[in-house]
Amino acid sequence: MTTLSTPLREQLTALCPDLDIPFFVYDLDALSAHVNHLTTQNVVKLWYAVKANPLSSVLKTLDTAGFNFDVASRGELTQVLAQDIAAERVLNTGPAKSPAQIQHFLDAGVTTFVAESLNQVRWLNDAAQQRQQTLTVLLRVQLRWPAGDKNPLGGDSLTPFGLGCEQWQQLTLRDYPALDFAGLHIFQWGNMLDASKLASLWQQMVPPLTELSQQLGMRLRILDLGGGLGVPYESGQQALDWDQVIASLAKIKAEAGVQELWMELGRYAVAQCGYYLNPVVEQKCNYDEHQLILAGGINHLLRPAVTSQAFPVQALRASDTAQRQYHLHGPLCTALDHLGSHSLPDDLAYGDWLVFDQCGAYGFTESMPYFLCHELPAEYVFTQGQLYCIRHSETADYYLR
Ligand SMILES: Cc1ncc(COP(=O)(O)O)c(C=O)c1O
Repeated sequence: MTTLSTPLREQLTALCPDLDIPFFVYDLDALSAHVNHLTTQNVVKLWYAVKANPLSSVLKTLDTAGFNFDVASRGELTQVLAQDIAAERVLNTGPAKSPAQIQHFLDAGVTTFVAESLNQVRWLNDAAQQRQQTLTVLLRVQLRWPAGDKNPLGGDSLTPFGLGCEQWQQLTLRDYPALDFAGLHIFQWGNMLDASKLASLWQQMVPPLTELSQQLGMRLRILDLGGGLGVPYESGQQALDWDQVIASLAKIKAEAGVQELWMELGRYAVAQCGYYLNPVVEQKCNYDEHQLILAGGINHLLRPAVTSQAFPVQALRASDTAQRQYHLHGPLCTALDHLGSHSLPDDLAYGDWLVFDQCGAYGFTESMPYFLCHELPAEYVFTQGQLYCIRHSETADYYLR
């Protein structure tokens, strides 16, 4: 199931006996091969959604492969610029862009924005006018389907991301002369693994979006389809076929009649390059069920608690013994600290390590590391066949005041 390469497994096997704190490792050689494949096409312009993993060496690998960068905060912007990536290659998305944040982004040289509200449009225009510059703006649309129609999204829940068509129709584009309204942005799905379902979803977005652009008098030059390409977290799931995705995107591009199609990929770009290594503290049998108590849990890998979907896992050491079903628990004082139920060798004990797969996205930075004051995990990279620690583990006195 895991894609851990033999040289990386060997080096981790040599490293782990000296450690007792969980850590992340990112296989940059594998990442580079994967993202270079993604950019070998001219159908879609790719941005990297920095929120998935803002580590400097991950950003550099994406930069070398030709990705641009979608940032959602001042911190992400600082990290991108610190890698010598030009501000012209940055796109700012996110529902909480205050006037102060917009000023900060303009000061840094960012000129491309996804507007998520009428206020954001006004603030962007005011800030751009003050500086006598023009910004490229996409309007983020939140679609709903008429009651009774088959809903391609599965539901109509309200989110803070963008506005419905009716709300955008209140906008008179000529009132914002400092903004070049280049297109629309839509992203209302997540972790999709089926290329034909994605194609049908995108296809159903095209008519309402082209209609909205006509109502606004906007020439739809750019359509941004966000992220949402999935990765296989569960055994038996097939990875999404990139060539099929590209073929569908080419059709969507033609149907929408746009000059450019954009996507901001997070998970699909980086999940598979990352692993979380976690020591077993003990195995215990409780009410006839087997539990593995681990040194790390949702303090380092929050996603299972918020999505009820575990990361795939296997033991680092090879074992010939039978497998048994375990519940995996972290060290926190809440039953939510559960990393799933998995089949693993029945002889696991103190001293063993587990390897969680698909942890390159929404891992280290999507966690709750301060609760209970356990150590922060280290981060390693594996590049050109060598393992390097680029951020050491920190004890709680590092942040406690
Ligand atoms: C605006 C935007 N674009 C892209 C992404 C990346 O999504 P994914 O990791 O599913 O590719 C996100 C994730 O939250 C997002 O908010």
